[in-house]
This record gives sequence, C-alpha cells and structure tokens, in this order.
Amino acid sequence: MVSITEILKGLHTGKPVELRGWIYRTRSVGGKAFVVVRDATGIVQVAISRDGVPAAAFAAAQKALIESAVIVHGGVVQDKRAPGGFEIRADDFKVLHFAEKFPIQEDLSEEFLLDVRHLWVRSQRMTTIFRIRHTAFGAVHEYFRDQGFWEVHPPMITPSGSEGGSTLFELEYFGRKAHLTQSWQLYAEALVLAMEKIYYIGPSFRAEKSRTTRHLTEYWHAEMEQAWAGMDDVIKHAEGVISHTCQRVAEERPDDVTAMGRTPEFLKAVKPPFERMTYDEALKGLKKKGVEIEWGKDLRTLEERALTEGKSKPIIVTHYPRITQAFYKARDPKRPDLVLAFDVIGGDGVGELVGGSERETDLEAIKKGLKEQGEDPKAYDWYLDSRRYGSVPHAGFGMGMERLIQWICKLEHIRDAVPFPRTPARFAP
Ligand code: 4AD
Ligand code: MG
Repeated sequence: MVSITEILKGLHTGKPVELRGWIYRTRSVGGKAFVVVRDATGIVQVAISRDGVPAAAFAAAQKALIESAVIVHGGVVQDKRAPGGFEIRADDFKVLHFAEKFPIQEDLSEEFLLDVRHLWVRSQRMTTIFRIRHTAFGAVHEYFRDQGFWEVHPPMITPSGSEGGSTLFELEYFGRKAHLTQSWQLYAEALVLAMEKIYYIGPSFRAEKSRTTRHLTEYWHAEMEQAWAGMDDVIKHAEGVISHTCQRVAEERPDDVTAMGRTPEFLKAVKPPFERMTYDEALKGLKKKGVEIEWGKDLRTLEERALTEGKSKPIIVTHYPRITQAFYKARDPKRPDLVLAFDVIGGDGVGELVGGSERETDLEAIKKGLKEQGEDPKAYDWYLDSRRYGSVPHAGFGMGMERLIQWICKLEHIRDAVPFPRTPARFAP
C-alpha cells in the first residue's frame, strides 16, 4: 500500500502499487475510464482500460460515483497529461463501497457547504489546510519543548473568567453556575510558581457575538507563562514560536503552502526580530496615514490593517493604555497609565495573532484592578494566593492557533482554519 504523495514524488515510478482511497472525479471515454482518486495526501489519476482489467472491474469503474471507496492495483507511470504528472495504469480495480450521489457539486453556497461540513472536510482545500494545521501544532509543541518549557494542563470548566465577563460562556453545573475557560490565565499563574516555564495548547471559549472573519466562539489557544521573566523575554518567545512554525510549514509542506496562495519563501523570511512600536507610536503613525483614533481606544481591524499594510512580517505593538486591559497585567513603572502588554499583529486583515504581558505582582494593585472591572476580589481569592506565597516577576502570552493558520494560509475567513468551526450562528454539525 502506498500514499499518493509518494507517487507524486516519483518514489514508485515503474513499479506495481496498491492504492486505497476515494473517487474524486471520474470520466469515461470509449474503452477507457479515468478515475481520479484521493487519499489523505493528495489526488492521482488512475487509467482503467477495458482490455487491461477483469470485465467486472471495468464495469465497476464505469458505474462508481464520486466518493465511492476503491482499491486500485496497477503500475505507476510518469505522464505529463495527468494532474500531478503521474498516472496509475490499473490492472485491477475494486469498489469497496458504491457511494450514493454526493450532495456536493460545483458552485454551492458557503452556507450549504457549512451545512454539509462533515462531507466538505474531504475537499482538497480543507485537507490541504488540515495538513498545514497538523504541522503548525507540532511546531509549537516542538518550539516550547526545545526551549525547556513544561506542558501542563488547566481545567476547561472554571468558576470565573479572566478576560472580561462579556465573552464568558455560562454553564449549568449541577444546579450551580460555572463557565467555559477563556484562557488558562489564572491557572497558569498558579502553575508557573510550581514549574517556572510552562505552555499548553487547548480550546478556549469566547461568547463573541460579533460576526467577523477572525472570531470563533471555540478556538485553540497556545499559551505560555514564564517565571523570572518580563515583557521583553516573552516577546522573544512570541517571535520565536511564530518564526519556528513558519519555517517548519515551509520546509515540510511547500506544495500545500503554494496551493494556499503563499510561497515557502514568504514563510521562510518570517524571522525575528519583528518591527516593534509602542501604542503611542502606533497612534502617531496612524495619524500620518490619516487614521485618527482617540487615545485609550483599542486598535480595530481598520487600524490594524493600516499598521500592517505592505508588511510581510507581523508587527508588535507594546505599552497599551491600562484602561483597556485585564486586571492581571503589570503597570508600567515609568507610566502608570500604561501596562507592560503587547500584541503581535499579522497582516492581510488577520490582526491580533498574540496577546501577552508582564503580570502585576502587587496584591493590592490586582485587587484594585478587579474592583475597577466590576469583579469581587473574594471570588478570586485562590488566584490571589499566587501573590501571597512567593510571588515573583512573570510574564506570558496566548496565541490563537486558527489566527496563525489563517495568516499562514491567507484565509479570508478564520472558520476554514478548523475542521468544524463554532461561530455565533452555528454549532452543528
Ligand atoms: O488577547 P487574548 O484575549 O489574551 C488572553 O486570553 C491572555 N490571557 C493570554 C495569555 O496571556 N495567556 O487572547 C489571546 C489570543 C489573541 O491574540 C487571538 O489570537 C486569540 O487568542 N483569540 C481568538 N481567536 C479566535 N477567535 C476568538 N474569538 C479569539 N479571541 C482571542
Ligand atoms: Mg488581546
């Protein structure tokens, strides 16, 4: 048994092979059937001639519809006319399962494709993205493990949130109110005092009602936290993990990258350092471009687009106004109206790839911050123990994996970065 990618690399040319897969496309001319077969790695053409296979096999090849499951025996030949440049000349062709008429034909609406997402995941577009996603997840694990970080896991069911009540999903928990995690934030700050350098990739949930091309209600969050570290230390890791992921995807999946409309060279050029500016500098730069925003306001898509315009690497904005930011972020000792927080912003409208900060170490300052955000410090008492028993400087960040994949694959909409997207409008199939 061989895979299609091996055939297309020329590893089986001139040899007999067995291939298992599904019919992607089929057409018959005279005494020949041309069946394009797909597997997890790609598509290849199989030529079946009436004289070359048993009569029953030829009849089956002519009858089988798209997405029928097949087992092909034959010899691999190089043929410029075939898609991918190779063809299997069949000497046997078995149909393991005759598919019903496949509901996905050409020119279907985006809504319909979301209704039949369980079938659309078989498309070349989706499988290409899945392979890139696979490589990206592996690269993030590889980066943090190589840098000496421990993988530790927070709970997904939590009493309270860390990123603001408006995006918190509520859950009925045996008659009590619980919430789905928005971030491992509070747990990371407990675990970092145990393990010092930690990371994990897991699902985060945001009840974002806004319908945008870059928000999901369930996304995969790569998060890290580091003790004895400040904002600059973790910015280096944000650059490092993004760059490493781009290098790995470019090295391991050049054809998939090209199929998505990026080039491997573009990704290989994503190397540190990324351009850096403070929030104040960003506002000045925007003003020069005719984009004015009031000091203290968050950067929106429009501003992020203007800042990243014409830039092939992500950029970093630091030192945000404290009023826009969560209670756990450290105040800037030189400018108490700012926090030592940063975002990594990608171009092509993807926007914030990473959000992170140095963390506030002062117990009273955190309590004050919680109150300002309408929270009761008592509900966070267990978390505040991290500032009572051996508090040390620490910092960390979170990276949206689908945002990164959206940027790498140049996807118009984030929903294609994940097999079964969850958005305000739908949670099925
Ligand atoms: O900026 P956020 O909200 O930061 C945190 O949650 C921190 N506690 C992380 C940390 O320091 N450990 O989210 C981090 C990242 C964003 O930069 C973005 O890439 C992604 O998570 N993200 C989303 N991705 C998809 N859909 C959404 N609704 C997202 N919300 C945030
Ligand atoms: Mg953020």
